Amino acid sequence: MPRSLILVDVPLASFIEELFAPDCRSGPWSLLEEGTMESLQEVAGLFLYGHPIIDGPFMDRLPNLKVISNFGVGIDHVDLAAAAARGIAVGNTPGAVEGATADLTMALLLASARNLVAGDRFARGPNFRYYDPSLFLGREVHGSTLGIVGLGNIGREVARRARGFDMRILYHSRHRKPEAESELGVEYASLRELLEQAHFVTLNVPMTPETRHLIGEEQLAWMRPDGILINVARGGVVDHEALYRVLADKRIAGAAIDVTEPEPLPRDHPLLRLTNLVITPHLGSAGSRTRLRMARMTVDNIRAGLQGMPLPYAVKQF
Ligand code: DGY
Repeated sequence: MPRSLILVDVPLASFIEELFAPDCRSGPWSLLEEGTMESLQEVAGLFLYGHPIIDGPFMDRLPNLKVISNFGVGIDHVDLAAAAARGIAVGNTPGAVEGATADLTMALLLASARNLVAGDRFARGPNFRYYDPSLFLGREVHGSTLGIVGLGNIGREVARRARGFDMRILYHSRHRKPEAESELGVEYASLRELLEQAHFVTLNVPMTPETRHLIGEEQLAWMRPDGILINVARGGVVDHEALYRVLADKRIAGAAIDVTEPEPLPRDHPLLRLTNLVITPHLGSAGSRTRLRMARMTVDNIRAGLQGMPLPYAVKQF
């Protein structure tokens, strides 16, 4: 039996290549631009990481595509209905990324609260010649109020970590979650109440039509002037133009974001010039154990899909 061709959309470490052996071989994404009709017919699976848009017309270029396997949990870039209509299975990596993404949420929260990035730059520069106790005064994280928008798996992990910092924890989600309230000691709030009260607001919602620009001009205006916004979800959840305006006018204290739209931002984007913004290049799940687990799950989904078996980590398609 010929080995199935799997397209991989970013250059990945060799361990991922090894995971495909012996039944599959991998090909570069560039085949989509440069490949002949014949080579596109060979493609049986897609290994996705870089969040490319996979819609119906894209799928139609790969007539023998059986499985789309996403290296990550967020699946907003794949048209699930179009895949279902074409009998293409779709899988992702539930349960693999939550811990690492919650860790990064706390890292961004702490970095922003305590001026870690500016402090690092200053400590390396020529002006650090004596200890000045008035420099870089930040906000204490312990004893502050955290607002978690979206109390799904990642949001809950954030709440667990925040408890260790003795934070008061508010949450907002579509439905109230009484069991989480008693397990995690979190308090339900409307989005407005949460934004008005929390010193730190973390966004932990999936990207859906309902969450697009969930945080825009109006919602940013509800935030406290000393509030800090943290986005590890998807760039599209926040209106970047509105965020730029409130940060530039110092109407909130700061923001820390791991995700943007588009991603990456154009190199001359005004957000990148702001000193009250901390930004990382989509590192939410970038822990080595997490990556390996994601890779295994992605490959397991591809293998099952090629054999026409149910995917072990299938995304519900309808
Ligand atoms: C996820 O799991 O969705 C991360 O953002 C990586 O894509």
